[in-house]
Amino acid sequence: MAVERTIICASPRPQGACAAATREAARLLAAAGEPAPRTLFLHELEVAPCIGCDRCKRLGRCFMRDSMDAVIAALDASDELFIASPVYFAGPPAGYKALLDRLQPYFWTFERGGARRPVRLLVSGAGGDPHGFDPLVVCTRSALAVAGFRLESVVPCIGTGAAGARAAVPRWLGRAASEEEGNPSDGR
Ligand SMILES: Cc1cc2nc3c(=O)[nH]c(=O)nc-3n(C[C@H](O)[C@H](O)[C@H](O)COP(=O)(O)O)c2cc1C
Repeated sequence: MAVERTIICASPRPQGACAAATREAARLLAAAGEPAPRTLFLHELEVAPCIGCDRCKRLGRCFMRDSMDAVIAALDASDELFIASPVYFAGPPAGYKALLDRLQPYFWTFERGGARRPVRLLVSGAGGDPHGFDPLVVCTRSALAVAGFRLESVVPCIGTGAAGARAAVPRWLGRAASEEEGNPSDGR
């Protein structure tokens, strides 16, 4: 069966480096004759922040109806997940953090110890900030673990701009010889 892939562009900017990398990834997959991935651009979505009400513990899903329904449907249908995110003050941008927090319904339902699907993260940053991007990586790993994913690799594009992010796409897709592997431990 064909591999189902979803790419999430986690930038609020429609024409930024993450959007360029997302479009390039879809182009490269098409050129390789592979099935078209789902592409979700966060700037086109409405994802309200989690309010921590814990109603998802009882309902098994969030009480709010917004674009998160489509995100969860895409995640549930995916064999592989790709995320392109900017780093904002070492962590995720607010919209991406809202998306990650809205994965909390999975926290009550997911099977610990079950098989996990791979997620690959491309990080775009302007550089010049001494604090790195570990919080972005850890938030991604933690939240997606409960949705049944394992952070497989992290491809940093710091100070490279859109051209550098596009050039890193083969590594992001796992099609290049050398990859920087992420820590496979998933936390909770
Ligand atoms: C609020 C804010 C905080 C940022 N913090 C960092 C940072 O800590 N480190 C960094 O390298 N770049 C930082 N940047 C720059 C962005 O990560 C960078 O411009 C990135 O390439 C944007 O991705 P995009 O073009 O896909 O939107 C920050 C930008 C903004 C708006």
